[in-house]
Amino acid sequence: MKREIVKALREAGEGYVSGSALCERLGVSRQAVWKCISGLKEDGYQIESVSGKGYRLKKGRDRLYGPDILSRLPEDCLCRKVQCFEEIDSTNTRMKQLAELGEEQGSLLVSERQTAGRGRRGRTWRSEAESGIYMTLLLRPELPPAKVPAITLLAALALTKAIQEVCGVEAQIKWPNDVVIAKKKICGILTEMSSEENYVHYVAVGIGINVNTESFPEELCDRATSIRIQTGKKTNRNELAAAVIKHLCADYERFEMEQDFSVFVPEYNRVLANCDQQVKVYYGTVDDAKEENIDIGIARGIDRDGALLVELDTGVKKIVSGEVSVRGMYGYL
Ligand code: BTN
Repeated sequence: MKREIVKALREAGEGYVSGSALCERLGVSRQAVWKCISGLKEDGYQIESVSGKGYRLKKGRDRLYGPDILSRLPEDCLCRKVQCFEEIDSTNTRMKQLAELGEEQGSLLVSERQTAGRGRRGRTWRSEAESGIYMTLLLRPELPPAKVPAITLLAALALTKAIQEVCGVEAQIKWPNDVVIAKKKICGILTEMSSEENYVHYVAVGIGINVNTESFPEELCDRATSIRIQTGKKTNRNELAAAVIKHLCADYERFEMEQDFSVFVPEYNRVLANCDQQVKVYYGTVDDAKEENIDIGIARGIDRDGALLVELDTGVKKIVSGEVSVRGMYGYL
């Protein structure tokens, strides 16, 4: 019911929605509406109540809020449960614990900040309070484990679509799954899987987005940015989180049904940064890499397995993600 009331209030914009209109829309008593509004206020959701007029949303702090995110998702979206936290160690860590206890597919954890945010390859993920989105979606795909890495590519694609839709700015993908604007990273994805030889127990898709961050420490400035820095505007984080989940769930369901990534290849290649440009492929560490551990070629896009095709003097090489890093000739991109 919270989800429906939030939706009605949002749709009214700056106007009021009367208690009786809410009763009619939801088919419940006035008391039930009042109780639900009180619950929303207790959660910290900013609602103004004026007798004779009704209720309206106060313009206030932009807080991540489960019913708000849920109210923006299509009715048939596979994400049906959203839990928001003020602080958590890591949404991925917590989701993996819940998954082991039987949490259902489509459950989403979101946090205002993380005290132990994790990145790929054991790195930490800077999770500044109240300006980013840190969230993890739980999936239980009926797919062979070898096909699961494609879900990370779908998440990157969902991020570019959502950022275009909500923020009006074009983001690109740095293969395999960094999302960038103006050659700097704005999102990271950490996908963690629990599986047996031929069976996937669960997949936790963790997404971190630098949304309204105003500045970065000096050591990150040359490769990290935020949507706010790039557009000069603040983004409603509930709206952006919902748009990402909407696209990710829709594309994931299609992928699971077709068991084939081919249909997404043209879309992915359209937003692939470095496509048709010279790149360096590092087999191992990027810093202090020896010449024999580097290939230089032209990136030609991904294939149906999500591998990057790089044209070398010796022919086209299929680069599979893992311990490989691909960089532009003169830097990160
Ligand atoms: C990367 O290294 O690029 C991946 C970063 C992934 C960060 C997100 S934030 C939400 C989720 N929880 C985590 O601890 N990590 C992921």
